[in-house]
Amino acid sequence: MRRTAVFLVLVWVSGVCVSSAQSEVKELKCIVGERVTFKIKVKESAFIHKNGESQIAKVVKGHFEVTDGTFSGRLQWDSSTEFFYITGLNMEDSGEYRVEDRDKKKDFKYKLAVYNPVSRPQVSSRNKMNPTCSVLCSVQNRREVTLSWQREGETLSHTSSPDLSTLLSLSLEIENSSAPYSCVVKNPVSNQTVTVKAEEYCFDPVSRPQVSSRNKMNPTCSVLCSVQNGREVTLSWQREGKTLNHTSSPDLSTLLSLPLEIEYNSAPYSCVVNNPGSNQMVTVKPEEYCFGETL
Ligand SMILES: *[C@@H]1O[C@H](CO)[C@@H](O)[C@H](O)[C@H]1NC(C)=O
Ligand SMILES: *[C@@H]1O[C@H](CO)[C@@H](O)[C@H](O)[C@H]1NC(C)=O
Ligand SMILES: *[C@@H]1O[C@H](CO)[C@@H](O)[C@H](O)[C@H]1NC(C)=O
Repeated sequence: MRRTAVFLVLVWVSGVCVSSAQSEVKELKCIVGERVTFKIKVKESAFIHKNGESQIAKVVKGHFEVTDGTFSGRLQWDSSTEFFYITGLNMEDSGEYRVEDRDKKKDFKYKLAVYNPVSRPQVSSRNKMNPTCSVLCSVQNRREVTLSWQREGETLSHTSSPDLSTLLSLSLEIENSSAPYSCVVKNPVSNQTVTVKAEEYCFDPVSRPQVSSRNKMNPTCSVLCSVQNGREVTLSWQREGKTLNHTSSPDLSTLLSLPLEIEYNSAPYSCVVNNPGSNQMVTVKPEEYCFGETL
């Protein structure tokens, strides 16, 4: 038995197409709108065919002519480099091309695949609270697209699917104070990366606020609610779902605190503490913090 050796060489062609040579057919993978060059020198006379036998252009005695209207103005022959090239590539240009060199009596075959560049992936939060914080990265699926999560150059997970009608998506559990993660989307000709920093998507659970009495006498009865400050923490006083006052501070080393004057005959008040990942609430009934009016 003879084993067939397969040589696969990947190079960038004029910075636009990825080309690889496998046996005698050269594969060219290009981006929509860009240009592809068939790097075979054609001097005096040659034909170029697409998908089987249909001829699309020819060079006869150094004179170039396009014979297929869909390529007019786009398929060219450069008499100085002596290469055929196509500009303004579209998806329909994908297919097999054969350059027939009439002088050397030789054929050169190409398989051209035209791709749209991948779109930018979207990252959304699934759970914002440490230590179960997680995010989801998704992108519209397209031909030969893979989506992966990477950290410091290492691939943590990846996915791809032949079903182009779906979204491609992959979730990731974020470790607290980890190095940034990247969601990388790729096809053979392009890639897009979105970087995810743990601190932008994940928050430690807020602590429970403490309520203390400042003044128990009516009509100036008041209380103070305090909590350890943290990233994007807000402390607010609410009554019957309505916010009465709120506070937050960029100085994370301090306590957040907010006083409230309370009415004796009022519905209960709540001191609510939240950040994007969690919340805590303490209910304050006026009769527990203020002396009645008869006193
Ligand atoms: C996450 O990391 C920060 C900084 O290292 C630390 O202060 C915090 O307690 C950690 N949270 C959890 C839930 O491990
Ligand atoms: C993304 O594409 C650029 C060329 O546009 C290339 O230089 C780079 O290596 C690619 N990155 C990855 C992760 O494939
Ligand atoms: C909110 O609290 C601050 C700080 O105690 C106070 O100065 C302000 O008057 C309060 N606003 C309302 C609407 O109660």
